[in-house]
Amino acid sequence: MKIVVVGQGGREHALASVLGRTADVITTPGNPGIPNSTNIRPEDLEADLFVIGPEVPLVGGLADTLRAQGKLVFGPGADGAQLEGSKVWMKQLLDDAGVPTAAWKPFSDPGPAEAYLRTLRPPYIVKTDGLAAGKGVLVTRDLDTAIADAKHKLSGEAFGESGRRIVIEEALSGPEVSFFAVCGGSDFVLLPTAQDHKRVSDGDQGPNTGGMGAFSPAPDGLDTAEVKTIVRKTLAELKRRGIDYRGMLFGGLMLTPDGPKVLEYNIRLGDPEAQVVLPRLTSDLAHMLVRAAAGATPAEPTSAGACVSVVLACEGYPEAPRTGGVITGVEEAGALEGITVFHAGTARDGQDRLITAGGRVLNITATGSTVAEARDRAYAAIKLIHFPGMRFRTDIAGGI
Ligand code: AMP
Ligand code: GLY
Repeated sequence: MKIVVVGQGGREHALASVLGRTADVITTPGNPGIPNSTNIRPEDLEADLFVIGPEVPLVGGLADTLRAQGKLVFGPGADGAQLEGSKVWMKQLLDDAGVPTAAWKPFSDPGPAEAYLRTLRPPYIVKTDGLAAGKGVLVTRDLDTAIADAKHKLSGEAFGESGRRIVIEEALSGPEVSFFAVCGGSDFVLLPTAQDHKRVSDGDQGPNTGGMGAFSPAPDGLDTAEVKTIVRKTLAELKRRGIDYRGMLFGGLMLTPDGPKVLEYNIRLGDPEAQVVLPRLTSDLAHMLVRAAAGATPAEPTSAGACVSVVLACEGYPEAPRTGGVITGVEEAGALEGITVFHAGTARDGQDRLITAGGRVLNITATGSTVAEARDRAYAAIKLIHFPGMRFRTDIAGGI
């Protein structure tokens, strides 16, 4: 079987690596760490299956374009991709589906937004409607900060057009957990659980990032039956709107005293969650995604062991990453037992040296029989890697 993976980060490297156990994989555009990377557009490639990794091409309708060419695609069309592409659309769908979520209101004008905020109690939650690369959500206890943020977002200065509409919602509290559902339109299966570490510094300090590391399995706390009910209701509501959702559904839940409520949906695997979920699979990922893409019931996955991934980032990440530094030690680290180094933001310079080319550079990923063993292996491997300004959290999967 031949599979094309679309994307270029650590998530796509993990997808290509695990799909590569049972299939021939090409990745576009890929990166220097992913074997068989090509600059040929997915529209111009032929394969038995196309797997689209990131949200931006999905929201832009790449799955529709490829399906119109007769290709088999794992990834929702632009219609279903609105689950991540528009919070207003997503919240309305949840309400219509009867899936619990925080009470909310949409706003396009600053006056009514401010008036509504003044009726709420802290903390205040202000969200950009459209895609914002993980930076569109403000949580604050300060009313003036919330009002200023709402105005800033609505002005179009913060996030361009995707900010011209916002959602203000009720604050929930409780532990956060996520789930990954491989959906085949009507049926779905759940992948192993994972937890990421979103903030840039140890002890969950500093600004939010795309994720500084992750581990799998996540600590207990997720009731599978409740998650299945949420996914089933969501897929049924999508169907009612004429949307046949074939792709990943990545849900963020808050376990409130009133039961689990959906905070957000993503239409893709998490990054770096994919890097720890996929390597643990003992069943055939390619076969599972082919079934889902064809609208059939995907095979129930099996998994074993544990996995930890630590993100090595550039100086200045997330605000202003300084890239272009030479990276050494990747091969030595990758030769250690249980270690795979996924490339997230790397390039080759004129002398064919590996250099940093993004805020998140490498994902040092270790499998082991326990999370503790995997964690020890990942941190031992990091000692072999060097690039200027390299930084990482030292507490990924700590205390597990
Ligand atoms: P989101 O991208 O919508 O998941 O929001 C990012 C983060 O903001 C979440 O992981 C939560 O920690 C926090 N958050 C979002 N919505 C709420 C809410 N309604 N109540 C409390 N915290 C929230
Ligand atoms: N790591 C969180 C995400 O991919 O959205």
